[in-house]
Amino acid sequence: MRFKNKVVIVTGAGSGIGETTAIKFAKEGAKVVIADIDPKNGKRVSDIISKSNGSALFVETNVASFETVNQMVDKTSIEFGSPDILINNAGINVFGEPLNMPDSEWKRAFSVDLDGVWFGCKAVLPHMLKKNKGCIVNVASVHGIQIIPNCFPYPVAKHGVIGLTKALAVDYASKGIKINSISPGYIDTPIVERFFQTKPNPQEARKEAENHQPIKRMGTTDEIANVIMFMSSDECNYMIGANIVVDGGITLRMHENDDTGAG
Ligand SMILES: NC(=O)c1ccc[n+]([C@@H]2O[C@H](COP(=O)([O-])OP(=O)(O)OC[C@H]3O[C@@H](n4cnc5c(N)ncnc54)[C@H](O)[C@@H]3O)[C@@H](O)[C@H]2O)c1
Repeated sequence: MRFKNKVVIVTGAGSGIGETTAIKFAKEGAKVVIADIDPKNGKRVSDIISKSNGSALFVETNVASFETVNQMVDKTSIEFGSPDILINNAGINVFGEPLNMPDSEWKRAFSVDLDGVWFGCKAVLPHMLKKNKGCIVNVASVHGIQIIPNCFPYPVAKHGVIGLTKALAVDYASKGIKINSISPGYIDTPIVERFFQTKPNPQEARKEAENHQPIKRMGTTDEIANVIMFMSSDECNYMIGANIVVDGGITLRMHENDDTGAG
């Protein structure tokens, strides 16, 4: 029960990594706010938690709008108390070819994947600063440190998430606020399945992706949630502005099956 009575907000908790993270926080005693744009899934996750005697509140939230994020944080404070931990997890894949991509796609990616993270931080920080204590974990991606061709502009936004994390971490470290990011690799979630479904042979695409990993499989949402929870706990209070890569080794390897030794 590392998080007994802690008030934890998880954005994008209606699915995938956010869902698992919210459920695990609740199992460890947290009062969890499910902040998602999708009411059906948001309520589903909130019901899962309530049915196992956990504390959960679904608040319909579009992270791309500061106003609704701020309202969600106000509601959190009224219902559960002021937030202790924010997991900025909501995100969308926007992949394209730079010059063939309409401006609206650039704006869509940035509004959720970067503005959404900033809006979450901007809304909770005043509450955390009042207590001189708080923790934020931003969910970036391996796309935040490396580039895969034809995935523009998602990696630009995710690089931004890591930059935003570092900038805020330094500004608020002396005020008792701990801000870090996590960069998951290929994690088996609905966002990834939807990506495979855009391919001519989704099953083949999945197999290929798995084979491409040094660990020969995708990660699980549990494997990401476990690290997010460690990063949110008092066990790592000296970690400030770090980006923890949890990717089965994919970003360590330069070439696949490269036995030439070529540098
Ligand atoms: N799955 C992966 O392989 C992977 C890898 C690296 C990073 N990530 C990142 O992890 C995070 C979670 O991804 P996932 O795979 O669990 O995705 P997912 O699609 O399963 O879940 C994302 C959730 O975010 C919600 N959401 C989308 N737009 C929103 C908005 N504007 N406001 C509020 N909620 C919104 C969705 O409704 C959904 O419930 C994302 O930031 C993603 O970029 C995922």
